[in-house]
Amino acid sequence: CIFSLLTGSCGHGGIVNISQPYVVQLNWRGFSFKYGSWGRDSSLRTPQKDLYWVAPLNPDGRLLESYRLHNSYDDLLLLKNARELNIQYGEGSGTAVYNNFMYYNVYNSRDMGKLNLNTNTLAVRKTLPNAAYSNRFSYAGVGWQDMDFAVDESGLWVIYSTEDNKGKVMISKLNETTLDVLHTWNTRQYKPSISNAFIICGVLYATRPVNTRKEEIFYTYDTNTEQEGKISIIMDKMLETIQSINYNPSDRVLYVYNDGYLVKYNLIFQPVLH
Ligand SMILES: *[C@@H]1O[C@H](CO)[C@@H](O)[C@H](O)[C@H]1NC(C)=O
Ligand SMILES: *[C@@H]1O[C@H](CO)[C@@H](O)[C@H](O)[C@H]1NC(C)=O
Repeated sequence: CIFSLLTGSCGHGGIVNISQPYVVQLNWRGFSFKYGSWGRDSSLRTPQKDLYWVAPLNPDGRLLESYRLHNSYDDLLLLKNARELNIQYGEGSGTAVYNNFMYYNVYNSRDMGKLNLNTNTLAVRKTLPNAAYSNRFSYAGVGWQDMDFAVDESGLWVIYSTEDNKGKVMISKLNETTLDVLHTWNTRQYKPSISNAFIICGVLYATRPVNTRKEEIFYTYDTNTEQEGKISIIMDKMLETIQSINYNPSDRVLYVYNDGYLVKYNLIFQPVLH
């Protein structure tokens, strides 16, 4: 028998449990920078082979104005050899990094931005058709995250909503080169009632707060089968609000920005026997 639990593979039956949170550090801008996102891009196109990014929002919880890159986990831990860069401007903490590009909601628009991290220049700016924006249908307890970018084993996605579907979660698969929408799925889950979401192997997982110390992964939408599901996996948290979650398919870690702290969780998957 062979268990298919290799990193980057989808030969598993989904998440069955999650580790305790591992607190890496406070974000470099300090405790008042409660909002933001962070993660790891371990793409083949990163010249350094490993890239950690940290993108706190301004204390208004809206404006993404600066971010830092580190070429190793040790550098991140020691706050060493950072490249610190400015952009004009992103909105909300739905940012993701994939293959050496940063994807974010361009400030006060329904546009998606694709920033080249080698040059800090905008490579593509494209409208996400009919997307609600500017805090219309953000997440519960988290403002300005109308657009939440996600990366899974198959590439780049965006989680958002429109006026037409009255704030329910929509999931679009994007062409990462052009930001064209390749396919869209409509769920029945109201976006402002979930606190965050991420995608693994084409399955959207959504969270909601249970109390100030616990969050629950409670809802799934499988884009492969177009089926919704209910699950209950409890995530312990250090502070009250999970501002963002970024899944990395190559190490299968959730990178969580928890009220200014950079936190990691390991995921435990259901093995599938072949
Ligand atoms: C889930 O993981 C936690 C550690 O985070 C552990 O304490 C618990 O026993 C696990 N639950 C199951 C059902 O394996
Ligand atoms: C994405 O767009 C590029 C450039 O137009 C194209 O070459 C590529 O085939 C597209 N990929 C998919 C999956 O549609």
